[in-house]
Amino acid sequence: MVCQPRKDLVIYFVKTQYSLLSFVDHTISLAPSGPYSSSVTSTVLNHVGHPARRAMLRHYLMCPPTYFDVVYSINPWMDPGGHVDRVLAVRQWSALVDTYRSTGHRVDLLEPVPGLPDMVYAANGATVVDGRTLPARFANPQREAEAAIHEAWHRRNGIFYGGGEVHPAVAVNEAEGDFAVLSSRILGGYGFRTTLEAHRELATLTGREVISLELVDPRLFHLDLALAVLDDERDHIAYYPDAFSERSRRLLGELFPDALLASELDAYAFGLNAVSDGLHVFVPAGARPLHDGLAAAGYWPISIDLSELIKGGGSVKCCTQQIRPTRRASESRLQRDVGEEHQTRRHQIRRTGASS
Ligand code: ARG
Repeated sequence: MVCQPRKDLVIYFVKTQYSLLSFVDHTISLAPSGPYSSSVTSTVLNHVGHPARRAMLRHYLMCPPTYFDVVYSINPWMDPGGHVDRVLAVRQWSALVDTYRSTGHRVDLLEPVPGLPDMVYAANGATVVDGRTLPARFANPQREAEAAIHEAWHRRNGIFYGGGEVHPAVAVNEAEGDFAVLSSRILGGYGFRTTLEAHRELATLTGREVISLELVDPRLFHLDLALAVLDDERDHIAYYPDAFSERSRRLLGELFPDALLASELDAYAFGLNAVSDGLHVFVPAGARPLHDGLAAAGYWPISIDLSELIKGGGSVKCCTQQIRPTRRASESRLQRDVGEEHQTRRHQIRRTGASS
């Protein structure tokens, strides 16, 4: 068969001692309507035709559900008249922490405070990007006090992740509940909790583009209930289209043509409230179709049962705040390593008298 020459395919041949592997990188340049430019790279396949995935070590901040309860209702899932089994909640949450740690991730813990029953949803407390922290400013008075606790933790501990720059939040934002961080851009949800002003605040703080997406389903009131970042190096995401306004749905379709589309069943089973390290996806149990879709896309889905915490309107991602260290720290480490290698090479060259 004779193929037409194509300019949108880059073909890599990699010679190893075992075989000749070839990768086809399909680069599509998109010109979406709206102010966003985008170049989308589709998934790289490995030698047996499966997408190549790799795990990146993560740093998470979590808070035990010691005082978890449903005593008020600020979202449609919360029924203050229902029963909460706190012992089971602690057991389920602890299993999540163990799973993260056993896959190599670092988990730091925030001290729970009596009278703050939603503190377990640590993702809502702060957004840390490149070591810079924007603490939350909660929409509901019941959770207001949590913000200062997160802020204090980051002020105290920022030094350990090369951060410490903490900016006071002016506009209402519920942190990673509504901010999804990609390789260079950030997706911001609005409509129920986080405001558009907060999107601008995070953009100013991080110097990154924040793409605003409007949420329309009250049961999926945070972005992290409607959309999950699966691979933050290649910007691969999963989302439930009906959770978004028509305009935002169109934008998502244009920006992420290779996204996994979740069903209503997945979304209402909190399936998109998943956490991914690029390979392992910690996905709420019950979202079976999404689980299978993730496996077919080359990820390793790990089912997590947080049935008690779902009663408060949150699951895996809600419980997990990701700390993204400063780029400068990792870059300068990289530069130092490269520099050292350079020095060593120069030294060796001088010693052996070789020249390059
Ligand atoms: N009861 C909590 C609230 O309504 C649930 C928070 C869910 N968190 C999340 N990241 N989606 O605020």
